[in-house]
Amino acid sequence: MTQFIRVTDFASFREHARMLIVAGVTPANVSLAEQDSQGSLFESPTPPRSSTTTGKRFSVPRKFVELAQTAAYHRDPSKWNLFYRILWRLVNETPGLLEITTDDDVAKLRQLEKEVRRDAHKMKAFVRFRKLVANGDPNSVITDNSVEETASGGDFEHFVAWHRPDNKIVKLVAPFFSRRFKGMRWTIFTPHESAAWDGHQLSYGKGIAKSEAPGPDELEAAWKTYYGAIFNPARIKIAMMKSEMPVKHWGTLPETELIDELLAAAPDRVDKMLSHVDGLDITSKLVPATSDLADLRTAAINCNGCTLCEAATQTVFGLGPTDATLMIVGEQPGDQEDLAGVPFVGPAGQLLDKLFEAADIAREQVYLTNAVKHFSFVERGKQRLHKKPSSREIAACRPWLDAEIRIVKPKVLVCLGATALSAIAGRQHKLSDIRGVPFSSPACDTTIATWHPASILRVDGQLSAQRRSQLQEDLHLAQSLGYMRPS
Ligand code: URA
Repeated sequence: MTQFIRVTDFASFREHARMLIVAGVTPANVSLAEQDSQGSLFESPTPPRSSTTTGKRFSVPRKFVELAQTAAYHRDPSKWNLFYRILWRLVNETPGLLEITTDDDVAKLRQLEKEVRRDAHKMKAFVRFRKLVANGDPNSVITDNSVEETASGGDFEHFVAWHRPDNKIVKLVAPFFSRRFKGMRWTIFTPHESAAWDGHQLSYGKGIAKSEAPGPDELEAAWKTYYGAIFNPARIKIAMMKSEMPVKHWGTLPETELIDELLAAAPDRVDKMLSHVDGLDITSKLVPATSDLADLRTAAINCNGCTLCEAATQTVFGLGPTDATLMIVGEQPGDQEDLAGVPFVGPAGQLLDKLFEAADIAREQVYLTNAVKHFSFVERGKQRLHKKPSSREIAACRPWLDAEIRIVKPKVLVCLGATALSAIAGRQHKLSDIRGVPFSSPACDTTIATWHPASILRVDGQLSAQRRSQLQEDLHLAQSLGYMRPS
C-alpha cells in the first residue's frame, strides 16, 4: 500500500527519507509531495526513528546531498520522489549510481540541479533594487510592499526589488544578497516568496504580483547611467545578450529600456572608443574643415592615422563629383588601386563598371570611395594578398569618410560589402538580412547595403550568379532612387 508523505523542504525530505530507508519502504510504496493534493491521504509521518534506534546504519554520498539540496529548489513537483528513488538505489542497489550519467534518474537529478543553479545565477545578476525613502522604524523590514508602521518615526532608506525566477530559489539566493548588500536594508519580492534583510538578519515572507512592485525611482536612473557607462559597444552580441539576460527579465531591468538606444548609438560609441585608444584620434586632427573635396584629398595624402600607410604605396582617396547624388562605399583599395591611386580599377572595379552600365549608371557621376583609404595586405612571395582591415583601421579612417559624406551629401548611399556597411551603419546589421532594403543610416537617409563585387568573384557557380544578379538589382534600385544629378 502506498504511503503518502508531505515534504516541506530539503530538511524535511531528509528526515522522512532516512526514516523510510531504515523502515525498508521501497520507492514504489511511498509518494512524497509538497502540496496536500491527495487530501487526507497524506499522513503526518510517524516520529522519525533514527538509524541508531533501529540499529540500521547507512551512508549517503556527499555528492547526492549536494545535488539534491540544490535541485530541491526546483519547481518540478516530482523531485521528492526522484530523490527518494535515487537514494533507495544508492543505498540498496548501486552505490556508484551517480557516476552512471546515462541513467534516467541521475540525468534528471543533474538537469534539475543545473536549472536551479542557472536560475540562481540569473537572479544574482538581474535583481535591481529601487530605493524607497520610507518613514517609520528603520529596524522594521518591508514584508509586503509597505513599510510596517511603527511608533518611532523618521525617514530611512529601504531598497526593494522584484524578480521573477523560474523556481522557488529565494531562500537559496538570499544569503548571497545579504553578503553583497550587507549595509543596506532590502527586500526582494518574487511572485511566490520574498526575502528581507534588516542589516543583521534575513527573514522570509510572501511573494507579490509584479503589478504591486514599486515603480521607477532615482536609483533606477542611477543604474541606467551606470549601465550606459559600462555598456561596451565593441562587444555587442545580441544573441548572447538575450541568452544571458533572458527577455523574460527585460521588463524588470531598468537598463533594458536603454538597449535599443545604446545599440543605435553603438557605432558612434565604438568609433569614439577606438579613436581614444592609442592616439587614433590623429586622423580627426588631419581633416580640414573644408567643403572642397580637393583640399580634403590633398590633406589625406599624408595621413598616418594608422599603420597601413607604412606599407601601402599611397592614399587612395574617393573620386567623383562634389554634387554626386549617389555615393558608393567599398572596403579598401586593392593591389591595383594602391598602385594607380584610384578606387575600383582592379578586377572588382571592372565588374562594377559592367554592372553600372547595366543599371544605367554613369561612373563619372558617382562618388566612389572606400571605408579605408590605404591598401591592407599580407605578402606571400611576390604577391600582396588582400587583408581585411581591422576595426581600428576602419575607425582611424572614419573621419575621412565622414568628411566626404558631409561635403557630397549623397541622396543615396550604397555600401558594398559588410565592412562598408559596418563603417556606415554599425555592426548591429547583418548584410544578408538587410541587403537590398533601403534604410536610413546616420550617413544617409537612403542607404542600401549590397554584395561587394569582390565577393562575387571569390565564389563560383550558382552563388556567384545569384549575388551578381542581386548586386545588379540593388544598383538599379539605387539608380531609380535618385542617382541622377539634378540638372
Ligand atoms: N575593393 C574595394 O572595396 N575598393 C576598391 O577600391 C577596390 C576593391
